Amino acid sequence: MKIIHITVKSPFLLFIAALLITHLSKSTAIIPQQLVRGFTANPNPTVTNFQPLLNDSTGNFSLSFLRVNQDQLALAIVHVASGEPLWQANSAELAQWGEHTQLVFNGSFVISDHGSRVLWSTNTDGDRVVLTSAPNLQILKGEKSPSLLWQSFDFPSNTLVENQNFTSDMSLVSSNGVYTMRLGPDFIGLYAKFKHIGSDPSQIYYRHRAMQAKVNIVEGRGPILVRISSDGFLGMYQNGSTPADIQSFNSYQRSAPAPRRVRIEDDGNLKGYYWSGSSWVLDYQAISETCELPSLCGLYGLCRSGVGCSCLDNQTQTQTQTQNQTQSQQCYPNQEIGDLCSVKGNKFWELRKTGVELPYKELMSYVETASYEQCEKSCHMNCTCWGILYNNASKFCYNVDYPIQTILEVGHESKMGYFKVWEGAKKKKDKRLWIGIGLLCGAMILVGLVVGFGGYKLWKRKKRVNNRILEEEHINAPGPYKDLGSSSFGSIELSNR
Ligand SMILES: *[C@@H]1O[C@H](CO)[C@@H](O)[C@H](O)[C@H]1NC(C)=O
Ligand SMILES: *[C@@H]1O[C@H](CO)[C@@H](O)[C@H](O)[C@H]1NC(C)=O
Ligand SMILES: *[C@@H]1O[C@H](CO)[C@@H](O)[C@H](O)[C@H]1NC(C)=O
Ligand SMILES: *[C@@H]1O[C@H](CO)[C@@H](O)[C@H](O)[C@H]1NC(C)=O
Ligand SMILES: *[C@@H]1O[C@H](CO)[C@@H](O)[C@H](O)[C@H]1NC(C)=O
Ligand SMILES: *[C@@H]1O[C@H](CO)[C@@H](O)[C@H](O)[C@H]1NC(C)=O
Repeated sequence: MKIIHITVKSPFLLFIAALLITHLSKSTAIIPQQLVRGFTANPNPTVTNFQPLLNDSTGNFSLSFLRVNQDQLALAIVHVASGEPLWQANSAELAQWGEHTQLVFNGSFVISDHGSRVLWSTNTDGDRVVLTSAPNLQILKGEKSPSLLWQSFDFPSNTLVENQNFTSDMSLVSSNGVYTMRLGPDFIGLYAKFKHIGSDPSQIYYRHRAMQAKVNIVEGRGPILVRISSDGFLGMYQNGSTPADIQSFNSYQRSAPAPRRVRIEDDGNLKGYYWSGSSWVLDYQAISETCELPSLCGLYGLCRSGVGCSCLDNQTQTQTQTQNQTQSQQCYPNQEIGDLCSVKGNKFWELRKTGVELPYKELMSYVETASYEQCEKSCHMNCTCWGILYNNASKFCYNVDYPIQTILEVGHESKMGYFKVWEGAKKKKDKRLWIGIGLLCGAMILVGLVVGFGGYKLWKRKKRVNNRILEEEHINAPGPYKDLGSSSFGSIELSNR
């Protein structure tokens, strides 16, 4: 492996080196541990997962071209054994996995397209690039006591690794771009981008304030930072090495094999893992009750603890709750949701439901109104309001100013909701309804034909059979419950088609 960085001084050595390289590259590709000015790389079309470019000293991590969405490329630090990316360059636009994409190191690390269009650059003037075993990608300048010009630790993507300082000017963003982790003056906050593009800040849905058991967070003594400790916790620090708060992992104070990582997931949860040697073991999750996730059941979804997802408008698509599947079945058509304030004449229809509340209502602002009607009225005429939730016991009126996400089903009749549904959703609903009616008509005609065709025979046996059924029903004594059960089952079947 060292061969590559020997500065070749004689033609003989050059010859040996060339021989060795050609020989070795036949069996295993040599991945360097340092890149110097002049380095260039292009994606290899035959690679299906990731293409290593630079290894750390252990060989456990590799700076790589990572294939994403089949034909796109991200520059990523990959955990080699699992193929899991722990860092990704945050280019605004992903490069194509094609011959025109190039990574160069000319002092800056630069990803460009067609040799000219720069998609991502570190904007540095360094001498070499190394990957530490943290893993942290660093651009250094100078030989004896090199200065650090740039490091990937300062630009996290969706993941934090052990000992990486996460400060208040950073954010972790889920790969789907919807969820963000940021630090407040004394808390960790998770935020969701639920509003249409171009509108203002995101909605907080999780907040963990520092317990401040051993040290206090003092205002004006600088911002806080968060770091994963090798002792198995997420620590919050202000100054010094004593944490003002710890969120312990399952493996707290047990020496779990490295590495550990915490990631903001595409469902909005913050999860911790450690590598067991063969797989990533879930070690921590900020939100443990799945219905408390900000949008588990999608737009206009309804979540019932222990049961799972359905829809606010009763068009039930009941299914057991698995975090990844729920995305595929949605209550609202998969399309860009509109802005009620910009649509001419505020096109929406209304949905009311009792026994519902917001999943993170303690983080939502509210006003007190004397009645539900007053609460609803405050929303009806206000185009920035997408819905309200009212608690008839406390008289709290919660205003939702983003398209309605998953609502909790709680069963208390005193908790009520009013929701605006953008017209786009109604069309889809109508289409579904017409398909349903079409199917029903078809089925009825078919039944009619069958009945007509076999009518004669049936007529002959009718009396006898009827008598027998009556007798059986009498014996089995079917109650109204049974009837109700089977008829409602039938209607669910139909509406699912
Ligand atoms: C490195 O390449 C980029 C893109 O071609 C260019 O913009 C930049 O000026 C170069 N930097 C140096 C130090 O040559
Ligand atoms: C993280 O921050 C602490 C305290 O501010 C500092 O001592 C440590 O060197 C930092 N670690 C890294 C990897 O930058
Ligand atoms: C590299 O990975 C192996 C296998 O997971 C592990 O045993 C070893 O400790 C790791 N090395 C470092 C320095 O993390
Ligand atoms: C949903 O069903 C419940 C009970 O079946 C009913 O009271 C309610 O009005 C329905 N809501 C809508 C929006 O259809
Ligand atoms: C709300 O509470 C009031 C009394 O506090 C009661 O009169 C009213 O019927 C309740 N409304 C609903 C819809 O439960
Ligand atoms: C409309 O609702 C928003 C929140 O959605 C609120 O901030 C604003 O004050 C309301 N405007 C009026 C006129 O009530």
